[in-house]
Amino acid sequence: MNFDIQKYSHVKTPFYWYDLDLLENTLKQVKDESKRYGYHVHYAVKANANERILQLIRSYGFGADCVSGNEVQASINAGFESKKVVFAGVGKSDDEIRLGLQNDIFCFNVESIPELQVLNELAGEMEKQAAVALRINPNVNASTHHYITTGLEENKFGINMWEMEDVLQALENLPNVKLIGLHFHIGSQITDLQSFKGLCVRVNEIQQWFFARHIIVDHLNMGGGLGINYTDPEKELIPDFASYFQVFHDFLAVRPKQTVHFELGRALVAQCGNLITKVLYIKKGVQTNFAIVDAGMTELIRPALYQAVHKIENLTSIMPEAKYDVVGPICESSDFFAKARMLPETQRGDFLAIRSAGAYGQVMSSEYNLRTKAVAYYSK
Ligand code: LLP
Repeated sequence: MNFDIQKYSHVKTPFYWYDLDLLENTLKQVKDESKRYGYHVHYAVKANANERILQLIRSYGFGADCVSGNEVQASINAGFESKKVVFAGVGKSDDEIRLGLQNDIFCFNVESIPELQVLNELAGEMEKQAAVALRINPNVNASTHHYITTGLEENKFGINMWEMEDVLQALENLPNVKLIGLHFHIGSQITDLQSFKGLCVRVNEIQQWFFARHIIVDHLNMGGGLGINYTDPEKELIPDFASYFQVFHDFLAVRPKQTVHFELGRALVAQCGNLITKVLYIKKGVQTNFAIVDAGMTELIRPALYQAVHKIENLTSIMPEAKYDVVGPICESSDFFAKARMLPETQRGDFLAIRSAGAYGQVMSSEYNLRTKAVAYYSK
C-alpha cells in the first residue's frame, strides 16, 4: 500500500484514503478490456459517490448506473453525459422519475408493470417518451452472501419470466414508453466466473423467447457483480477484467447491432480505498485481545452487515504477531472489523489500515451515536 503515514500523522482519524493512481490503472484496464469487444461500461455510483472519484471515472468515458434521483443528479454534476446514465431500482419515486425524464437519460431499468404504467403517465405529462429496459430476474444463483444475491425468483428484484406475456401486453397500451433493452443483475462480490457463464446461457434462452415474439432489443445490460480479493488485496489489486469480459464474449449470443452494457461498481473502486484508524485502547481478553480503534461500523459497516472480511494492516508496529479482535467504539456487539486476527503486537496510538474499503465503505457510513462523518484524503 502506497500510503505515507508520516504525512498524515497529525490528521484527525478515522479517515478514508484513496489511491488515485491505482484507481486510474484500474480504469485503464477496464477501458481496454471492454473496448476489445465494444462493450459499454456504466459505473455503479452506489459503490462510491465521492465527487473526485466520480469525476475521475467520468474522465475515462464511462457511463453511470444510478439507483436514486440524487445519484442521477450527482452523476450529471460530475459531468457524466445524460445519454450514458441508466436509472435502476425497485422503488423509483415520481420526482425521481421526472428528474430522469427531464435529463433525457439513456434508459430506465424497470422492475414491474405498475412502474411501467407510472413511467408512461409521467412521460406523457412531460410530452416525452421514456426509454426502458426490462429488468428480468434470470433465476440464476450467484453463490454469494444472501444479502447481496439478487437474481433469484425469491428476491424482490426484477420481473420473472412467467410474468412476461403480461408485460408485453401492458407495453402495447403504453405509448410513452419505448422498450430498448433487457437488464440482468445476479448479485455482487461474485468471484466464480462460472456464475456469469450461467447468466449468459440463461440470457440466450430469454432472448430466444423474445425473438419468437418478433422482439429484438437494442441492448443487453448484464449488470455488475465482479468480485475482488479481500483477503489478499496485494495479490490482485486490479481485478481480472480480461477473463470477466471474455466470458461474455464466449457465451453471450449477441444479435447484429445489439450493444452490450455492464454496471460495475465494486471491481472499479474497492481496492483504491482504505479506512485509516488509530488504536485507542488495548484490552486483554481471555481468548483474544481487543484492539479498540477509533473507527466503527459507522464508517465501514460491511463486517457487521455481511460478515465481510477486510485485510487489516498495522502501519506502525513491526513487533511479533498476537491475536486481536479489532473492534470499534459503537455501542453494538456487531461493531467489529475482525475477530481473532493475527496482527503485529499493537499499542495505543498505532495506525491501522482497513484495506479494500473503496466500495460500499464511505458511501454506507452513518452518523449513528452522533458520530462525525469521516473525511477523505487522496494520493494526489
Ligand atoms: N447493478 C445493480 C442492479 C446492482 O444492484 C448493483 C449492486 C450493481 C449493478 C453493482 O454491483 P457491483 O459491481 O458493485 O457488485 N453493499 C454491498 C453490495 C451491494 C450491491 C448492491 N447492488 C456490499 O458492501 O457488499
